Amino acid sequence: MGSLVLSRLIICLVLLSVSKAEDPYRYFTWTVTYGTASPLGVPQQVILINGQFPGPRLDVVTNDNIILNLFNQLDQPFLLTWNGIKQRKNSWQDGVLGTNCPIPPNSNYTYKFQTKDQIGGYTYFPSTLMHKAAGGFGALNVYARPRIPVPYSLPAGDFSLLIGDWRTSSHKGLVHYLDSGKSLTFPDGVLINGRTQSSYSGDQGKTYLFRISNVGLSTSLNFRIQGHKLKLVEVEGSHTVQNIYDSLDVHVGQSVSVLVTLDQAPKDYYIVASTRFTGRVLTGTALLHYTNSQTPVSGPLPAGPTYHIHWSMKQARTFRWNLTSNAARPNPQGSYHYGRIRTSRTIVLANSAPLINGKQRYAVNRVSYINADTPLKLADYFEIPGVYSMDSIQGIPYEGPAYVATSVMPATHHEFVEVVFQNNEKAMQSWHLDGYDFWVVGYGFGQWTEASRHSYNLVDALTRHTVQVYPKSWSSILVSLDNQGMWNLRSAIWERQYLGQQFYLRVYNPVKSFQNEYGMPRNALLCGKAFGRRP
Ligand SMILES: *[C@@H]1O[C@H](CO)[C@@H](O)[C@H](O)[C@H]1NC(C)=O
Ligand SMILES: *[C@@H]1O[C@H](CO)[C@@H](O)[C@H](O)[C@H]1NC(C)=O
Repeated sequence: MGSLVLSRLIICLVLLSVSKAEDPYRYFTWTVTYGTASPLGVPQQVILINGQFPGPRLDVVTNDNIILNLFNQLDQPFLLTWNGIKQRKNSWQDGVLGTNCPIPPNSNYTYKFQTKDQIGGYTYFPSTLMHKAAGGFGALNVYARPRIPVPYSLPAGDFSLLIGDWRTSSHKGLVHYLDSGKSLTFPDGVLINGRTQSSYSGDQGKTYLFRISNVGLSTSLNFRIQGHKLKLVEVEGSHTVQNIYDSLDVHVGQSVSVLVTLDQAPKDYYIVASTRFTGRVLTGTALLHYTNSQTPVSGPLPAGPTYHIHWSMKQARTFRWNLTSNAARPNPQGSYHYGRIRTSRTIVLANSAPLINGKQRYAVNRVSYINADTPLKLADYFEIPGVYSMDSIQGIPYEGPAYVATSVMPATHHEFVEVVFQNNEKAMQSWHLDGYDFWVVGYGFGQWTEASRHSYNLVDALTRHTVQVYPKSWSSILVSLDNQGMWNLRSAIWERQYLGQQFYLRVYNPVKSFQNEYGMPRNALLCGKAFGRRP
């Protein structure tokens, strides 16, 4: 008996060392509190992480194990989600209400996740109660492992720029407003890293990496730097063909990384983020400062596109995979021939803005999502019936009035699916899928039809986690459902997400195996109908 126990122990130790030991652990303790800031000159309540607004920049390396203990000192439950971190086999750590109980006031939860096989510039942000309108967001950069090359010379430095629309109303005021059936008002300004005058310095002649993420609530932005070109190198974990741009559109929830060479006369230059597709254009600025500059910034702000939808769609089509360069792993991106894989089905998702019981809601294929009191993941684990419904949302749009439900779409592990986002509204859309990145194969005007597939890029489309859909247009993606779990597919436009334009994709495998999905974490918080249960 003794030797059996011993040999099991040895097997356990070997397994542990094989699965984890080579990847470093990184420990963080974060405390969330309220504070006061005046980003637009008016003092307002903001959400701080470790006293900072925006939150601290989280710099990690591919495959790092992150152990992040989050203490909530707000007067409301709180959750952070890791936008674009794929949480392989681990939707338990996704930090949305379908997977996690919110952390109650004056308590904590320790996130444990790995940045498995990822590189790139990402973000984190609060996922509940419009907290995102008050801050709590930050940059999350995943650097390549030392021996894995990146397809550009190492920059002299790198900057993370969080750009976003901003409102002076409090997050509680916004929740009250939305709950009472009104839609969000026009933003009051555009911030860059939580300010209107942040400054970034570099040496003349050197090249810097700028990681730009749109962390705003609702507005697409155009980004540009006076007198300087932007060389696009990475989009949400894809290494791109390195095209040169005067300016780039970054839609809500998206991230891009560009190289900027300080090849101009030594002075200060404007960095600009301005609203797209809005009647009135709001502009946020920051400064690019040459270390040898004696000359303050001057001249008009560089002009950018304002309503030009064709311009934006054309630019989006120029974002392409560099097939010969690698990403997080040594093999070239182009060795995965996504365009030759047969799709198992086509899901068409049409957004709408119905009134339900006289109040503004947003819906997908007629269903407006409402949160359950119990995370869907816990309902599955404890086999609690009646928490969500798998027959409410359909895979294609159909006629009829909208209704509310906790909608979950079933999907089979390892399916390869085509998803078409059909936007029949005049409003810009931005769609995000947790747990995955996907190939954005096409954008088009009007109604998607099967013939639209002729325009797909089946060779060098890039993968990303958030795709924009232009007014009265469609966007198509291909996605390999190789990550078992409960995954949120949502509008990145935060008012729409809050009022129902989201659902969960339950990527399921009838064979229960830790090879496919990790078990419930031992420290999982239990709430709703799972409260007090023991695994
Ligand atoms: C809360 O923090 C303590 C350490 O201060 C830790 O032991 C505990 O596991 C944390 N709770 C959760 C639910 O992660
Ligand atoms: C693609 O990446 C390779 C490095 O793997 C690089 O040498 C090449 O210049 C890149 N091509 C383009 C068009 O960006």
